[in-house]
Amino acid sequence: MIDPASKLIVSLDTSSLKHAEEIAESMVGLVKWLKIGSQLFTSEGPIAVRLFKEKGFSVFLDLKFHDIPETVGKAAAVAVNIGADMFNVHASGGSDMMKKALNSSMERSNTLGVEAPTLIAVTVLTSMDQKNLYEIGVRNTPKIQVLELAMEANKIGLDGIVASPIEASMIRSNGAFPPGFKLITPGIRPSWFHQDDHKRTMSPKKAIECGSDFLVVGRPIITAENPGDAVRKMLEEITG
Ligand code: C5P
Repeated sequence: MIDPASKLIVSLDTSSLKHAEEIAESMVGLVKWLKIGSQLFTSEGPIAVRLFKEKGFSVFLDLKFHDIPETVGKAAAVAVNIGADMFNVHASGGSDMMKKALNSSMERSNTLGVEAPTLIAVTVLTSMDQKNLYEIGVRNTPKIQVLELAMEANKIGLDGIVASPIEASMIRSNGAFPPGFKLITPGIRPSWFHQDDHKRTMSPKKAIECGSDFLVVGRPIITAENPGDAVRKMLEEITG
């Protein structure tokens, strides 16, 4: 039986390291993974990664790199330097960019003698629907766009993708992807929380049933009066 707590990534979406530490404190012994995104990283920098690693957490550095291959390659090497256990790039940055990120991450990890971080490709943001894709010139449905970007990421050798849980079963049932291909799904909403800006959401229980490996959850946990209780409530909902 898989422990659902090991699948939960708590998103520390705050500008304050002090606030992030308070949340992390209430996660000790409950969850293994924390996510540091552009808000906390822009505010506090790499010290946030180092701090939570020292506290024993695994850290997903969610900076969604999307730039020319050379720049992304250099940023990927720095992600390894600062100890990220997982980081991501936008698949829509293209195959050369993804290749550079992967090669650079592997090279840097070899040099340092550490395990290479898990490298994930962001497909279509969960805040986007058909209309939003149309606005940026994409004529595919969100599902097809996720599938095409996921195929490209897999071909290049990335470890998995970020997509909405709505696309999880499609990826899992598609023979093109190896069993270990990781599915990271934000847009998770327990029954007792509102949807916010996500347009493609699912409950945590259903997302796991659909084949999600990691559930990224921010506001339902970090805005709770007691974040630890919110995690426990969510885990009860998953196992109940
Ligand atoms: O608060 P909430 O649970 O909606 O937080 C979702 C987190 O997942 C945010 O940190 C957001 O940046 C991230 N996210 C993502 N990819 C998406 C959608 C959200 O990494 N497609």
